[in-house]
Amino acid sequence: MKGSHILSTGSAVPNISIDNVSLSKTLNTSDEWISTRTGIKQRRILGKSQSITDLAAEASNKALSNGLLQATDIDLIILATSSQHDLFGSASKLQAIIGAKNAIAFDITAACSGFVIALATATQFIETGTYKNVLVVGADILSRWVDWSDRRTCILFGDGAGAAIVQTDTGNKNDILSFQLNTNGLASNHLSIPYRKNYSNTGSIHYSSGRYSYLTMNGKEVYKFAVSQVPESIKKCLEKADICTKDISWLLLHQANQRILETVALKLGIPSHKIISNIQYYGNTSAASIPLALDEAFQSGHICNGDIIVIAGFGAGLTWGTTIIKWNVIE
Ligand code: COA
Repeated sequence: MKGSHILSTGSAVPNISIDNVSLSKTLNTSDEWISTRTGIKQRRILGKSQSITDLAAEASNKALSNGLLQATDIDLIILATSSQHDLFGSASKLQAIIGAKNAIAFDITAACSGFVIALATATQFIETGTYKNVLVVGADILSRWVDWSDRRTCILFGDGAGAAIVQTDTGNKNDILSFQLNTNGLASNHLSIPYRKNYSNTGSIHYSSGRYSYLTMNGKEVYKFAVSQVPESIKKCLEKADICTKDISWLLLHQANQRILETVALKLGIPSHKIISNIQYYGNTSAASIPLALDEAFQSGHICNGDIIVIAGFGAGLTWGTTIIKWNVIE
């Protein structure tokens, strides 16, 4: 088996920023309610002339440039998204925009766990020797799928993209130390963008057509799920990698809610200064949140080579998963 490591990262957010005070002018909410319940102060929203693939391409090009690679060096693109431009997938459009003509490309739809699942998928292709350079992207624009008059959901989400290049390690050293993935489809109704059918018939032909509704969520159930399942998943993953909690340099959870980040850290005995958090600036950017926070933490000099980072995603599905990586990127 070959070893795999993260070569470089990149990220992108839209220019338009909406803070809590602006939101409270059109919605029955307040900066105080949103900040204390979630830690979110503002979120970025993609302009109407742009698409998710523009954002994903910007993050991908930065990761390529930081990794000193050309787009044509990429063998595989995995785009984790639940808000694709096209129901058939957006990865091929991304491939075309960045000019990665040698890459095959596909989407993974697993909401806020998407990046962790995509990273685990990429490592399988690398470890078996099938591909050498894999571009893993997490991108979501849930601002287009929330009901902006529903204060229980719209305050949480924002748009963004993050990318990482996962590469075969020439020395066969493996920096993706372990991963642990879970799904509980029985609880999928707690967080969903459901399809609503309309039944019609023309003569003897009965058919159904419909459209997607806005995002729906049972906030309390999702909260309980996150703070109970994520620590368990992390514990299992640490055990697999034979790593003690005290050896963790950074805890990078999906940026859903500051209270969730702190409760999970507390349950694991990880001090709060090891939590990576940028939620106040971007809100919950779904599949983008982990690679966006990872890239920012590295670019700002927080993460250093040799650090052990515990990464966990969780969300709709319900899905959740952890991966533990040793940071070893191009500096
Ligand atoms: N502004 C002001 N009041 C609001 C509000 C808002 N944006 N949203 C809800 N409220 C009100 C509710 O109407 C309710 O009022 P009521 O008591 O008069 O009925 C009250 O605040 C409490 O609502 P509740 O839903 O019980 O709040 P909560 O403490 O559970 O917090 C969340 C709500 C969404 C912040 C919290 O449940 C949460 O973070 N859940 C996890 C969500 C998540 O992370 N989802 C994505 C996972 S990937």
